[in-house]
Amino acid sequence: MQPPDARPFLSIRGVSKRFGDVVALNDVSLDICEGEFFSLLGGSGCGKTTLLRVLTGLERPSTGKIFIDGQDMTSTPPHGRPVNMMFQSYALFPHMNVFSNVGFGLRQERIPKAELARRVEDALALVEMSDFARRKPHQLSGGQRQRVALARAVVKRPKLLLLDEPLAALDKKLRERTALELKDIQERVGITFVLVTHDQEEAMNLSTRIAVMRQGNLEQVGTPREVYEAPVSRFVANFIGSINLLECSSPSGKDEADHAYCETLDVHLRLPRLNGKDATDPTTRGPFLLGIRPEKMRLHRGRPEPPDADSIHGRIEQITYLGAQSTYHVRTASGKLLQVTLPMVDTANRDGFELEQSVWVTWSAASTVILPS
Ligand SMILES: Nc1ncnc2c1ncn2[C@@H]1O[C@H](COP(=O)(O)OP(=O)(O)OP(=O)(O)O)[C@@H](O)[C@H]1O
Ligand SMILES: [Mg+2]
Repeated sequence: MQPPDARPFLSIRGVSKRFGDVVALNDVSLDICEGEFFSLLGGSGCGKTTLLRVLTGLERPSTGKIFIDGQDMTSTPPHGRPVNMMFQSYALFPHMNVFSNVGFGLRQERIPKAELARRVEDALALVEMSDFARRKPHQLSGGQRQRVALARAVVKRPKLLLLDEPLAALDKKLRERTALELKDIQERVGITFVLVTHDQEEAMNLSTRIAVMRQGNLEQVGTPREVYEAPVSRFVANFIGSINLLECSSPSGKDEADHAYCETLDVHLRLPRLNGKDATDPTTRGPFLLGIRPEKMRLHRGRPEPPDADSIHGRIEQITYLGAQSTYHVRTASGKLLQVTLPMVDTANRDGFELEQSVWVTWSAASTVILPS
């Protein structure tokens, strides 16, 4: 979490970047604090790499300014910025061994030999690659190459490290392990990290905060909990995890104040309590969406007793078994397919639900979220 008095270390002010007709970044403003592990998340082509390249100085913004540690760096060339970037391809030099790859940047800075050796050894120890110093990149596994690239990125002790999909080439298990190592390294060296990833789980696990990007815009910036529990749009809700979205119309005089008519299910549903009704409340402005995460729903054989929760009848049309949990796809009378995720507590599935079974789906209004339509 970000301490309330933390001062921004990196400040991006109204940055736009156009390539001809393409608007890769559209008036992006963002503050990142010292020591944060910040993730940029978004689909292909939404502007993630462009934003990193603007931060390194490899790309000049069309408009806007970049401040690092209080200094305007908008016109500063890459080598003048306290920033390093780890590219997705790792870009290790194939003809150099691990030691030379990691020490390359320091050699260019003409760091004395003894100090260079010490710093390279420290960096290799940090990523647990000390035993591989004499190997060439082609003699390493993908994960080991990734760690060498990381050592090369931290050895120059940048204040800000930008990582563009650093784990994309790894298989799932190695990816998860390396991600945890990455977080551990970040905590030990205290460098501010900005990570680009396609993988929402990775972003949720690692980050102090996440920015969800869409078409050159920051659609939402918040802690992993905020973007998951309180997505601001249909795009964010769908991008981070799964969600059931129900079309509703704004409460009319006939409705009780905390209920609304749900067109998707053809029933009246309870609404969550909002923090005071005001102009930003989407329920006062026509159609809106009620979102419910699949793991916040429950299944019952018989009709549950009112009045604690909303309930809707349906039939199980599909079951997706995922080991630790199962997702039940329940077709309601109105034709909507609801997703309900339940933890697998009983291996024998004695209490489990089966295909074609008639069930009641319930949820509490407090675990729903209201979104603009
Ligand atoms: N040098 C360039 N010239 C023209 N268009 C560019 C250039 N670099 C990027 N773009 C365009 O800008 C947009 C953003 O590209 P960017 O590389 O930042 O996307 P990204 O979010 O990193 O995508 P991915 O997840 O696929 O890596 C894309 O539409 C891309 O085609
Ligand atoms: Mg990219």
